Amino acid sequence: MRAYRIAAIPGDGIGVEVIAAGLRALQEVAAREGSFRLEVESFPWSSDYYLERGYYIPEGGLEKLRAFDAIFFGAVGSQKVPDHISLWGLRLPICQGFDQYANVRPARVLPGVTSPLRAGQGIDWVVVRENSEGEYAGHGGRAHRGLPEEVATETAVFTRAGVTRIHRFAFELARKRPKKHLTLVTKSNAQRHGMVLWDEVFFEVARDYPEVKTDRELVDAVTTRMVLKPGTLDTLVATNLHADILSDLAAALTGSLGIAPTANLNPERRFPSMFEPIHGSAFDIAGKGIANPIATFWTAALMLEHLGEQGAARRLMSAVESVTGSGVRTRDLGGSANTEEVTRAVCAAL
Ligand code: NAI
Ligand code: MG
Repeated sequence: MRAYRIAAIPGDGIGVEVIAAGLRALQEVAAREGSFRLEVESFPWSSDYYLERGYYIPEGGLEKLRAFDAIFFGAVGSQKVPDHISLWGLRLPICQGFDQYANVRPARVLPGVTSPLRAGQGIDWVVVRENSEGEYAGHGGRAHRGLPEEVATETAVFTRAGVTRIHRFAFELARKRPKKHLTLVTKSNAQRHGMVLWDEVFFEVARDYPEVKTDRELVDAVTTRMVLKPGTLDTLVATNLHADILSDLAAALTGSLGIAPTANLNPERRFPSMFEPIHGSAFDIAGKGIANPIATFWTAALMLEHLGEQGAARRLMSAVESVTGSGVRTRDLGGSANTEEVTRAVCAAL
């Protein structure tokens, strides 16, 4: 029997609750399929762990993760630790250390879920986010701290190699979708260096994909198009910062942040890829048992797909869709079910 080694990192807040739910659904789907096994090891790396020890990832931690087939991640973020410390302490070292440069964020309105948009029911997008450089490259610094002369720089880094590989990835993905349509999102009117490089490389790569229809939008304009003409978009490719924002908008337009999944991929598979719900640790509902586990189930389906278990991924998504369609929904989707009830319903549907 095939066996996959999964590293689970629940992290903080509702991350702990939804990863527990996600692992139950994964084990259930593996049992139903009967053709593979999941060997899960959990890592306690979190903000409490950091407060006790002074680090999120212990010495040798990344090397240990490297041996796994995939990483199943919850969320990181605590009211006791500044967000830039937690993000750079746990999530970004994994994304950057494992060269997970392609961040894929599907957005679709699931059965039984209502988009806040009149024209939103048919939304079916994939946002492809550059995940290794750009605005989140970590370049910059501060000088003259606290003085009136204080200066801070935040430098975006765009490399031809980085831009080329994300565009190529986005074209490959767009080509496999029914509409074969890819929209380039930049801000090359105001930002005339890196963003212009993005535009140029996009149209160079496009020559290798004549079957993919392309168009381009400025990032501000694409937000209005997402809201007013959602049906005219299919696959979008954008920088680290822009796609971060657009994918939260996409999640809201498909009903809730509580259903939106994401995959941080190392497409060449030199390193393990990481799968996580888009949402954070949600201080307002953490510990109450009411977090929506659907984002994590969908995330688990993306992970199964990446592992090559397409049948299991489809089985899990049909179970999720039958449950959302049947009305068993958490509060963020207007229902009254809790995490446990949705999880049990999905496992029963499996
Ligand atoms: P958040 O995603 O944690 O919460 C935003 C809103 O959405 C809250 O009202 C929350 O209750 C709701 N929500 C989120 N997920 C939900 C779910 N599964 N079910 C029902 N409702 C849900 O974003 P926020 O409040 O900006 O950040 C809280 C903490 O999480 C911060 O420390 C932030 O840095 C961190 N964060 C971490 C992320 C990650 O680990 N990838 C991503 C986003 C935020
Ligand atoms: Mg975000």
